[in-house]
Amino acid sequence: MVKPLQVLGIESSCDETGVALVEVRGSELPVLLAHALYSQIEMHQAYGGVVPELASRDHIRRVLPLTEQVLVASHLSLADIDVVAFTRGPGLAGALLVGAGVACSLGAALKKPVLGVHHLEGHLLSPFLSADPPEFPFVALLVSGGHTQLMRVDGVGRYRLLGETIDDAAGEAFDKSAKLLGLGYPGGPALSSLAEKGNAQAFKLPRPLLKSGNLDFSFAGLKTAVMVQARKLALARGSTVEALPANVLADLAASTQAAIVEVLVKKSLAALTQANLNRLVVAGGVGANRMLREQLNSECAVREVRVHYPELHLCTDNGAMIAMAAAMRLQSGQQTASDVYAFDVKPRWPLDAL
Ligand code: KG4
Ligand code: ZN
Repeated sequence: MVKPLQVLGIESSCDETGVALVEVRGSELPVLLAHALYSQIEMHQAYGGVVPELASRDHIRRVLPLTEQVLVASHLSLADIDVVAFTRGPGLAGALLVGAGVACSLGAALKKPVLGVHHLEGHLLSPFLSADPPEFPFVALLVSGGHTQLMRVDGVGRYRLLGETIDDAAGEAFDKSAKLLGLGYPGGPALSSLAEKGNAQAFKLPRPLLKSGNLDFSFAGLKTAVMVQARKLALARGSTVEALPANVLADLAASTQAAIVEVLVKKSLAALTQANLNRLVVAGGVGANRMLREQLNSECAVREVRVHYPELHLCTDNGAMIAMAAAMRLQSGQQTASDVYAFDVKPRWPLDAL
């Protein structure tokens, strides 16, 4: 029997420090042994968004205690780690350097290889950690804070871009609309929970590029339309946007969410038709959105399309997806060198360049 491999994964690309241990047993689907996460949301809230320098400093504080935590939870020690994986990009350069620095130092000290992982590949493969893992090939809808892409995925490292946003990402549309409605940061969860209490038909907002005939997205205009609508309502009442009645804010939130979700759902269905596939994988923070899941589930059920998601708590950034992506890369034959620790990070790094 082949000895199992223990892969440590470190995520530090933005405002979450995540560490995880995944075990690889031959060609079986790798298993998550433990993961630990520290979210900096509270720290950045005071500034209305992520402050890169503060993010880096906080990753430095959290990464080793979190590593200790996953080792204890898995009943393993540092000496049991076979490969150290880290997020190499895309993300905030200073934040990425913390994970890269720690991973390379650990690798050098333990004389174990280090593997730099693409953050979006982590999101893309995160549904393989769920109780209902997908099978290749599939269409992936990648919806994170900075990216909105449709990909055709034929296997690990075999990604073809079908369409992407030409300006803001869906996550940004949630975040920026939430901010101008006075909902703070991060806007996605706040806007979607307020939307639950509102009427999605209350305001007619644009569905950008819905009929463009291609699989690209554009969300920058939607945020402007939300702003114009909100200011008009505020002006009519002689108030500020934030001071609008709760039911009006809820209607605005519900109408905004409905516009984003409709575009994401329709484009995903078009991508499945174009790729002639009947399996969809949704990944990234916006994949936690309840309305998106409900609408995709019902549209996909009608078309006999299987749809897979990461577990809810693994939709946003975490170390488990980085350890998992590294583990699946190792299984697919990716080579690692145990004497190369000249780490670098790639703050900008297109996924289809892999
Ligand atoms: O994947 P992620 O954690 O980070 C990046 O790699 O960017 O995604 C974060 C994004 C943010 O824009 C956040 O507002 C959004 O995911 N998000 C949501 C929800 N939960 C997180 N958007 C809509 N509904 C949610 N429930
Ligand atoms: Zn992410």
